[in-house]
Amino acid sequence: MIKSKVAVIVLAAGLGTRMKSKKPKVLHSLGCRPMINHLMETVTGLDPDEVVVVVGDSMDDVSHAVSPFPTAVQSERLGTAHAVLAAREYILDFDGDILVLYGDTPLIKLETLEAMLDARASKLDPGVVVLGFTPDDPGNYGRLILSDDGTLHSIVEVKDATDEQLQIKICNSGVMAIDGKALCSLLDRVSTENATGEYYLTDIIKLAVKDGRTCVVLEGDEDELIGVNSRVELAKAEKIFQDRLRIQAMENGVSFTDPKTVFLCQDTKFGKDVQVGPNVLFGPGVTVGDGAVINAFCHIEGTEIMSKASVGPFARLRPGTKVSTGAKVGNFVEVKSTLLESNSKVSHLSYLGDAQIGEGANIGAGTITCNYDGFQKSQTIIGKSAFVGSNTALVAPVNIGAGAIVGAGSTITKDVKADALGITRAPQNTVFGWAKKKRKPKFPEKAPKKKK
Ligand code: UD1
Ligand code: CA
Repeated sequence: MIKSKVAVIVLAAGLGTRMKSKKPKVLHSLGCRPMINHLMETVTGLDPDEVVVVVGDSMDDVSHAVSPFPTAVQSERLGTAHAVLAAREYILDFDGDILVLYGDTPLIKLETLEAMLDARASKLDPGVVVLGFTPDDPGNYGRLILSDDGTLHSIVEVKDATDEQLQIKICNSGVMAIDGKALCSLLDRVSTENATGEYYLTDIIKLAVKDGRTCVVLEGDEDELIGVNSRVELAKAEKIFQDRLRIQAMENGVSFTDPKTVFLCQDTKFGKDVQVGPNVLFGPGVTVGDGAVINAFCHIEGTEIMSKASVGPFARLRPGTKVSTGAKVGNFVEVKSTLLESNSKVSHLSYLGDAQIGEGANIGAGTITCNYDGFQKSQTIIGKSAFVGSNTALVAPVNIGAGAIVGAGSTITKDVKADALGITRAPQNTVFGWAKKKRKPKFPEKAPKKKK
């Protein structure tokens, strides 16, 4: 079969009023990535001949997000049919199939788009293929009116629907595959005679049917076709997307104690046999190597965790962190812009920022790298197999040499040479009997009883 040419038009000019946001709707994120970019990635998989994204005036941030795909500007938001016409120069007499996608329907899968094009190529030669679905709550989705023979007769928007039409369960997802040669002529005839006075793209169905063309419905899955118009719908879409990411991770060899409590980003990368405990959040830019263990309640972003490393519980890893093979970051530890070399350990209650921790080094509980003096950030470099005692402040810039030991409770402001001891500690004073004397007059009952 000779494949038709394909043009894709993505509508993203709407104001997204129901989001109650200054940000354009399609730039709101799912899995840490703007929803429009999910859609553009799926479109890229289709390898289409033309792609254009319709944006509104002063939506440069959307144009920037979809770059290098070109944009067409719809200056006035007069409806979805009017929006498609903003891309007229791309579609005029287009000799192939035109797929119209909505920027606020970001979870559609590539195989569904391919199925839409296959349906267009069927013997029936449908003028328009509409992707329908049967959501649990049809809400404000347009309703698909079918003819007795099962073909599509028209689409009615909720505000224009009769009570009887509102009972229809099958809805319009917004996704259409249209005969390119027919589209402009159909759009030119769309009127504004409806409850909102907008040019509805959905009206091209009744016009195509009037022209003697058959229109058909392909049914899709609600989880792919949810339209995001409000924050509540955004949260529903996020839930669906998170489930996809979790399933994908498990299929690739990751174990989750309780998958639904782990939050992932679209770019989170896992090796094999990674174990993730409950209540873990992965922000953007995290890679986890084979056999690493992430214990419960960790918050991780911009971090590379290498094979067999162990993190948490209750660790916070901030951007610029690398936890090398076999290294350990334990509970209540915050790490930022720090390289922990292989088999190094920071097991409890510490802050490491702008630091390098040498291979096999041990950082005691309560160690703080004082990386900021109120004006600038400085580095702390700790050598291979060094040992930093508990409750130590390392005032950067400072170097602790390989094999050196820092005594507990020190405030280190000068470099400690390799294999040396660095210690700053007031000498301990012991006064014999002092405690007993103090206790006696004030708390006689606590004084040791005299033997009778
Ligand atoms: C639309 C459909 C409805 C369908 C639903 C699926 C129409 C008339 N209605 O309704 O049948 O069930 O999607 O989610 O098409 N846009 C523009 N310019 C405009 C208006 C909208 O670019 O002038 C864009 C929006 O950015 C959005 C998309 O078109 O990405 C859909 O617009 P929206 O207003 O969200 O339509 P719905 O009311 O959801
Ligand atoms: Ca919508």
